[in-house]
Amino acid sequence: MAKDPGRVLIFDTTLRDGEQSPGASLNLEEKLAIAQQLARLGVDVIEAGFPFASQGDFAAVQRIAEQVGGDDGPIICGLSRASKADIKACAEAVDPAPKKRIHTFIATSDIHLDHKLRKSRSEVLEIVPEMVQYARSLVDDVEFSCEDAARSDPEFLYQVIELAITAGASTINIPDTVGYTTPSEFGSLIEGINKNVSNIDDAILSVHGHNDLGLAVANFLEAVKKGARQLECTINGIGERAGNAALEELVMALHVRRTYFNSFFGRDESCPTPLTAIRTEEITKTSRLVSNLTGMVVQPNKAIVGANAFSHESGIHQDGVLKNRLTYEIVDARTIGLSDNKISLGKLSGRSAVRARLEELGYDLNREDLNEAFARFKDLADRKREITDRDLEAIVSEQVQLPDALFQLRLVQVSCGTTLKPTATVTVVDQDGLEQTSVALGTGPVDAVVRALNSLIEAPNELIEFSVKSVTEGIDALGDVTIRLRHENKLYSGHSADTDVVVAAAQAYMNALNRLISVEGTSRIHPQKDTVVSKLKPVI
Ligand code: KIV
Ligand code: ZN
Repeated sequence: MAKDPGRVLIFDTTLRDGEQSPGASLNLEEKLAIAQQLARLGVDVIEAGFPFASQGDFAAVQRIAEQVGGDDGPIICGLSRASKADIKACAEAVDPAPKKRIHTFIATSDIHLDHKLRKSRSEVLEIVPEMVQYARSLVDDVEFSCEDAARSDPEFLYQVIELAITAGASTINIPDTVGYTTPSEFGSLIEGINKNVSNIDDAILSVHGHNDLGLAVANFLEAVKKGARQLECTINGIGERAGNAALEELVMALHVRRTYFNSFFGRDESCPTPLTAIRTEEITKTSRLVSNLTGMVVQPNKAIVGANAFSHESGIHQDGVLKNRLTYEIVDARTIGLSDNKISLGKLSGRSAVRARLEELGYDLNREDLNEAFARFKDLADRKREITDRDLEAIVSEQVQLPDALFQLRLVQVSCGTTLKPTATVTVVDQDGLEQTSVALGTGPVDAVVRALNSLIEAPNELIEFSVKSVTEGIDALGDVTIRLRHENKLYSGHSADTDVVVAAAQAYMNALNRLISVEGTSRIHPQKDTVVSKLKPVI
C-alpha cells in the first residue's frame, strides 16, 4: 500500500491492548462476537490478540482469522514481541485470514532498554531487521512498533525505523506507551520521522497512544495533521491503565470536523468523502457490546458514547435545542446509531419477529442461539410489557458469556424485608450435571446470595465492584448488574441483566466466578512485561 491511503486507517486493538485492562479478560465466544461487530463497524485492521500469550489467546486469534477476516473484511493482525517463537506463533494464528498481518515490536527508549530489556541500542539495531525479515518470510504484511517511541531519542528512532522498512515492514507504528507526550510534541515527532527517515515513503505511519494525561485523542489528531495515516485505538478507550485513544472520539472528530482536516489530506476543504471507512451508525452498538462483555462501564459523561453525551439538562439548552438542534448539538445522535427505537415486540411477538429485529440490529444467530435468545425473550416479555432494542442487546450479550460456563445457576430465591434477616437459597449445577443447593444469611439480599454461592464454589475472591443501572426507563426496566472480583491481584468481571436485580446480581456473580475459574487454569504472558502474570493452578 502506498504511504498515503488518502484517508485514515482504523486499527482496532480492543481485543489486544483493550483486553489488557484489569478485569477485562474475555472468553473466545466473547472475542469472536466483538470481532464480528468490529467488522460490521468497518475497521480496517483488527488486532485480535497476542497469540504467544497462551493457548486460549492463540485459539481466539485463529478463530477470528477463520471467521471474521474475509476478502472484503478487515485485516486480522496478531501481536508478537521481536522474537522468533512469538512471531512464529503469531503467523500460525493469523494464517487462516485472507488478509493477515504480524505486528512485532521492541522498545527503543533508553529507560526500557536499560531497565526492562537490558539491551544496548546496537543490539536493538541488529534484532529489528532480523525479526522483521523473519516475519516477512511468513506473511506479506508486517507492522513494526518502537515501544515507548515518544520517550525515545528521535535520532535513534530514525535509524531503527529505516532498518525496519528496509527489512520489509510496510507499517511503522509510533507508540506513546506511557501517555506522556503532548499534542505539539507528538506532532513534531511524526514530522521529524517523515523528514529524516529516507525510506519513509515505503511505509504507512501509524500511531498508538495511552491516555494517562487524557491527551491520547488530541495527540493522534495532531499526528494526523503531520502525516500519520493509521490510528491504533480501542472501543470506549479501554486499555492498559488509563486506556488507549478512543476509537469513537477519533472517528467522530474526523467526521464532525472534516472541513478542518480535509486540507491535511490534500483535499478541497468542502470535500464530502469521509476521512475513515467507519460506519458511524454502528458506534453505539459496538460500545455497548464491549462494555457489556468486558464489564468496563462507560462513564456517563464520556464523549460520544456516554449516557449523558446527548442529554440536555439546563432549561436554556433545552429551549435552544427545541428551536434549533444546532444551538447546542454538534453531532446528530442518529449518526452514531443512537435512536429511541422502541419496537413493538412484546408477549405476543413470534420467533420470526424477534429474529428479524435481531438481524436488523446486526445479530445473525445460528438456530441454537436463536432458540435460546427467543426463550429468554419470552421469559422477559412475561415480566415486561415492551421489549426495546437495548433489552434485546442485553439478552444476546449475556448469552455470549455462557457457553464455556463451568457452573450454571439453576435457582436463586431470597427472602428479605424490614423484619426479616436476608436469606438466600441458591442451586448450582456443574458440567457433569451435579446439582448442589446452599442457604446463607447476609447483611442484604445480594450479600446473602454471594455467601450462598461462595459456600458452593471454592474460588476465593474479594468483591470489589457491584453496580446496577437500568437498561431502559420505566419501573419494569431490566436491571443491568456488573460485578468485579479480585483474586490474587487480578480482576474478573461478570455482567447480567434481569427485571429482578437480585437475580441479575446472582447471575453476574456466577459469570464472574466462571471467568475466574477458567482463566485461573491457564498461564498467560503479558506482551510488555516479559513475565508470566498468572501461575498454573489446578482448576478448582
Ligand atoms: O503501548 C504500546 O507501546 C503497545 C505496543 C505493544 C504497540 O501496546
Ligand atoms: Zn499500548
